Amino acid sequence: MNIDKHAIIPLAAMVASVVLLGCERPPPEVVQGGYRGLAMEHLKNPRLLEASYEKNVPPEALPQANPGGPLATDVYENIQVLTDLSMADFTRLMVAVTMWVSPEEGCNYCHVPGDFASDNIYTKVVSRQMFAMTRRANASWKDHVADTGITCYTCHRGKPVPEYLWVTDPGPDQPSAVVPTGQNIAGYSTVAYSSLPFDPFTPYLDQENEIRIIGDTALPAGNRNSIKQAEWTYGLMMHLSDALGVNCTYCHNSRSFYDWGQSTPQRLTAWHAIRHVREMNQDYIWPLNEVLPESRKGPYGDPFRINCKTCHQGAYKPLYGAQMLKDYPSLSGPTAPPSYGPKAKAATSSEETPAAEAAVSAEPQQL
Ligand code: HEC
Ligand code: HEC
Ligand code: HEC
Ligand code: HEC
Repeated sequence: MNIDKHAIIPLAAMVASVVLLGCERPPPEVVQGGYRGLAMEHLKNPRLLEASYEKNVPPEALPQANPGGPLATDVYENIQVLTDLSMADFTRLMVAVTMWVSPEEGCNYCHVPGDFASDNIYTKVVSRQMFAMTRRANASWKDHVADTGITCYTCHRGKPVPEYLWVTDPGPDQPSAVVPTGQNIAGYSTVAYSSLPFDPFTPYLDQENEIRIIGDTALPAGNRNSIKQAEWTYGLMMHLSDALGVNCTYCHNSRSFYDWGQSTPQRLTAWHAIRHVREMNQDYIWPLNEVLPESRKGPYGDPFRINCKTCHQGAYKPLYGAQMLKDYPSLSGPTAPPSYGPKAKAATSSEETPAAEAAVSAEPQQL
């Protein structure tokens, strides 16, 4: 064959550009997250990261209120949670929540027009519970949210209903012979589009099933966990990674997903986070089901609940660690739950640690 020498260079360039078309631009940066040689690396695309940063800038803090003055609860009729705030702090907080939750609708999204004391509007009853939930998170779940803490904005971002929520999923409308027991549905965004069970939230972020599947002996004796449980666990793990915008190796050393000794400190934070999310769903969201209208419930009549993405929204720390709480210290306060609603629950963030807990991994589970 007789190919013109001059044609080779453009031809090569053409082939190269076709090959490179499938690659990301600019080339991703690699950040090493563990010891060398372990491949505990993270790939970051600076272009996508920049767009994500822009979406995660919190609104500017309101000017601080003057200290002192009477307590709001001495002046107003119906204050059940924010009992420790001065009038000035209380008013400032009302303005802030309007900005964070209902900027377009204003005060009357949560208040009966002309009667601020009235509870005759469900959004106010929900908000009171939200105040309690937020204050408890900031005061008692520092193992997870540290001093960064959360505000209403962490979840709401200027919308009355947060963008990332979940309800128990009846699944796609398919005969059960095609999709037995909720497994292997590709295309569901809850598990980052993987072909894994589409609802890992109900068993793990609402109910308290054990998240343990790997045996701790060399031979399989004693490990009663099923493939189904493994699939559910991996579904949850895909959500964790997707919600935080990280790889599995942000928390695990992939040569032993099981071993806490080889995991990163972030895995321990995530362990507390899972317990924190369960508490929010069980003790604060579920009791609201009585007051929520049907339009705020899923197909099984359950309330919209919280998962990792509700706050994190693709960032390893919500709002990339912006310190909003320090401007609103009134959102961290006494943690007594409101007088109605939440059922008492013994477990708190100081519950047993993973090491102590690992011992019970061989129990059969309910999945
Ligand atoms: C996102 C919901 C929400 C928005 C928006 C909101 N509030 Fe409130 N407001 C509440 C809740 C909840 C309480 C009760 C707090 C408690 O029980 O501790 C309350 C209580 C009050 C009270 C006390 C009434 C009484 O007599 O007990 C006043 C006054 C008040 N709000 C004013 C305002 C004003 C003014 C605005 C707009 C700038 C506003 N609120 C916006 C949720 C909201
Ligand atoms: C951890 C995430 C999270 C935080 C923080 C949070 N919320 Fe919510 N909020 C939710 C979820 C989930 C729902 C939907 C479930 C429901 O309606 O009970 C909701 C619903 C609401 C609603 C009802 C809106 C509607 O139209 O039905 C109001 C009002 C509200 N929140 C106010 C607040 C206020 C005020 C704060 C801060 C004190 C706050 N939220 C903090 C997660 C959060
Ligand atoms: C943000 C941290 C985090 C990320 C990211 C993460 N995991 Fe996990 N993983 C955990 C925690 C925490 C547990 C233990 C949960 C518990 O005990 O409640 C766990 C448990 C597991 C287990 C069960 C281990 C056992 O003891 O049987 C497997 C398997 C696992 N993860 C795999 C993965 C895979 C695969 C990925 C990536 C798709 C991943 N994880 C991403 C934090 C993480
Ligand atoms: C109520 C809001 C909220 C929810 C829901 C939430 N997080 Fe967080 N998380 C935070 C905040 C705020 C921080 C920042 C704490 C800090 O500055 O160290 C954080 C930090 C973390 C970190 C530490 C990151 C680092 O690099 O140090 C991990 C890991 C984490 N969360 C895992 C999870 C997992 C897993 C879930 C779901 C089970 C979850 N979070 C749900 C608010 C939330």
